[in-house]
Amino acid sequence: MITTYLSTIIPAPDALPLPAPAPVLFFLLQLTFLLHLLAMNALLGGLIITLVARLRGKSPDDPWTQLADAIAKTSPSLVAATVNLGVAPLLFLQTLMGQFFFTSSILMGWGWFSVVVVLIFAYYGTYLQSFKGSGLGKWQKPILGATVVLFLWVGFMFTNNNTLMLQTQKWAGMYFADARGLHLNLADPQLWPRYLHMVLGAVAVAGLMLAWWGRVRHLRGDPRGAFMVKVGLDNFTWMTLVNIVVGLWFFMALPADIRKLFMGGDPGASAMFGIGLVLGLGMFVLGFLARLRGPSVRLVMPTAMTIVQMIVMITMRDVVRNGFLGELYKPAEFAVKTQTLNLVLFGVLLVGGILTVVWMVRRLYLSWDHTQ
Ligand code: HEM
Repeated sequence: MITTYLSTIIPAPDALPLPAPAPVLFFLLQLTFLLHLLAMNALLGGLIITLVARLRGKSPDDPWTQLADAIAKTSPSLVAATVNLGVAPLLFLQTLMGQFFFTSSILMGWGWFSVVVVLIFAYYGTYLQSFKGSGLGKWQKPILGATVVLFLWVGFMFTNNNTLMLQTQKWAGMYFADARGLHLNLADPQLWPRYLHMVLGAVAVAGLMLAWWGRVRHLRGDPRGAFMVKVGLDNFTWMTLVNIVVGLWFFMALPADIRKLFMGGDPGASAMFGIGLVLGLGMFVLGFLARLRGPSVRLVMPTAMTIVQMIVMITMRDVVRNGFLGELYKPAEFAVKTQTLNLVLFGVLLVGGILTVVWMVRRLYLSWDHTQ
């Protein structure tokens, strides 16, 4: 009875065979999602730091105002990077989990569609901040505030969709109660801590990036670099501390059977959980100590820890996803018809794209006029 109910409510997997074995596509999903997260953190976290700096700056030569001016210039390029690096995981996610992801997208249709429209306005907002800056006069702060809210909305829609796709038992009730695509996943206890965890993590990672930027400026003799390092490391340190607590809230909000996976039920998942906690504490301690060491402080260790932590979190997120879907999701049974040429093309373009971005950032770094 229960099986029939589930098989009628969960669409069959796509009839077309996968273009590569599922584990390969999963690996590419996680890899491209990591790249998306890095860009998204720089964008969203950077904009939140900009907003706070803009509100604190009292005059054009106030260090807070100069900080806001500097970061605002980066945001249009970061939107492009975030969106482009979002397309790849979106395609992998749809290929692998279309049964779930498309269903939740339909249930929250209007919210999901809104992402496109909201993104366009948010993108304009970053251009206005970057190109017009103080020329916006009294509108500068409200437009920045609205831009941040719009990007927060986009992220919130992603968290809604990524959690609703796991709640197969809710779908029928939601759809038959109202089929207009107006649902969100607000009643899910994991929604808020998961979203908050993402947003605070974005501010922490953006803070670390800001510290790097400030350090480079400082080493090149720009007096404003020291302030960037200080603000960046403050954000990195304190947001990480708060995020350890929010992360535990997220954990407690998961159903008991999934929590058990991290408490010995699955040795790999439990190890990840332990490593994640230790890394979180380590990031906090290293950030705290780095704050005391001045603007030339070396940042390699906290950065390496942060990247490993992001990989651990992405892996744990996948354990949660599999924990929710369990027997309902069997990618090993999907038909596969490997498209070797396309895979090789994708790999070459991905590596080429990453190298191009590294080259562009290096050119920017070398040609940066630090008097601006
Ligand atoms: C520019 C603003 C954006 C922000 C702030 C943002 C933020 C986020 C956040 C917070 C998540 C995690 C959701 C969760 O699991 O709880 C996420 C996931 C994701 N985002 Fe973005 N995103 C943005 C744009 C995009 C765009 C335009 C795309 C696609 C073209 C995209 C593709 C994805 C995908 C596919 C995932 C889920 C990957 C997975 O579950 O494995 N994002 N995003």
